[in-house]
Amino acid sequence: MKKKVVSVILAMTMVASMAMGCGSSSDTTTSDNSTTTTTTNDAVASTEASDAADATADAANGDLADKKVGVCIYQFADNFMTLFRGELENYLVEQGFSKDNITIVDGANDQATQTNQIQNFITQGVDVLIINPVNSSSAETITDMVVEAGIPLVYINREPDASEEQRWADNNWDVTYVGCDARQSGTYQGEMIADLGLDTVDMNGNGKIDYIMIEGDPENVDAQYRTEYSIKALEDAGLEVNCLDDQVGMWDQATAQQLVANSLSQNGNDIEVVFCNNDAMALGALQAIESAGRTVGEDIYLVGVDALSEALEDVLAGTMTGTVFNDHFSQSHSAADAAINYLSGAGNEHYIGCDYVKVTKDNAQEILDMVK
Ligand code: BGC
Repeated sequence: MKKKVVSVILAMTMVASMAMGCGSSSDTTTSDNSTTTTTTNDAVASTEASDAADATADAANGDLADKKVGVCIYQFADNFMTLFRGELENYLVEQGFSKDNITIVDGANDQATQTNQIQNFITQGVDVLIINPVNSSSAETITDMVVEAGIPLVYINREPDASEEQRWADNNWDVTYVGCDARQSGTYQGEMIADLGLDTVDMNGNGKIDYIMIEGDPENVDAQYRTEYSIKALEDAGLEVNCLDDQVGMWDQATAQQLVANSLSQNGNDIEVVFCNNDAMALGALQAIESAGRTVGEDIYLVGVDALSEALEDVLAGTMTGTVFNDHFSQSHSAADAAINYLSGAGNEHYIGCDYVKVTKDNAQEILDMVK
């Protein structure tokens, strides 16, 4: 009995220690890349990128088959990064790299492990590195190690801060970042809810949008911006908002399920919208919503980001209000193209962007056909 009480208290403390507090994440300032987005926002992007890369691959004198690529992923267990790395490997092979010369390693969400992996790649003498950092704040250390070894470096998915990116430009280093601007994904989430109209969403009639926020890793700019800009979009549409709960789900489905279950039991029917920083957590939220006897589209609304195929099926079925396509095709292709550009001597800008796509019932099938 005593043991049980202790473990319940421990569990409660753990959950409590992960709470962000409503509105807290928006205090974080990060880099501004809004003017540097370079990639188009639809399926055409993949074809165009591929044509460009064919040309670049030719420029590398067709000797890509001998080049060694080291790829560090922050954590293999991440749904989105699993799609990303699969596409990255396929595309590198399509461009002429030999599968045997592409090594992709799992950082297991531990920066020390990943730093060792980078050191090993340097010792092995890889020709180019593609890195999805565990902690974006470790980028300075990583960059120094890799630049010192004379290896070109392409960061993906977790954007280092503005001062770090400035260092690459100032020193004219072969270092770049490939990713989308997370402010856009947050804005799209907010807009999808705003488009439903206050009368539809404000079921308790208090004149406000009562929401809860489930955040990804707060160290990650994607989590910070999605949290901030989803709510900003509601406010920009002239809606009043009321944050009932803001928790950190670390991008993880099971964690989010638990957090949303807790929040639903505390806040009951007052919750009108559940914002999740990614689809994995939205899928967890949906499980909690259904267990609580609530129905998305009828008495609660739910949005995520990524456009995982399971989430797209939910959007089509009406069990998710919407999601945002985080284009892993465009991002992985651009990352590979950037690596090729370094190998060929063509070089790259220090920031390579892409666009998110808003996904509602209207276009979910189209996106599903693309990702499946
Ligand atoms: C994705 C998340 C993923 C995270 C990993 C984000 O852009 O939306 O699903 O967990 O990247 O860093």
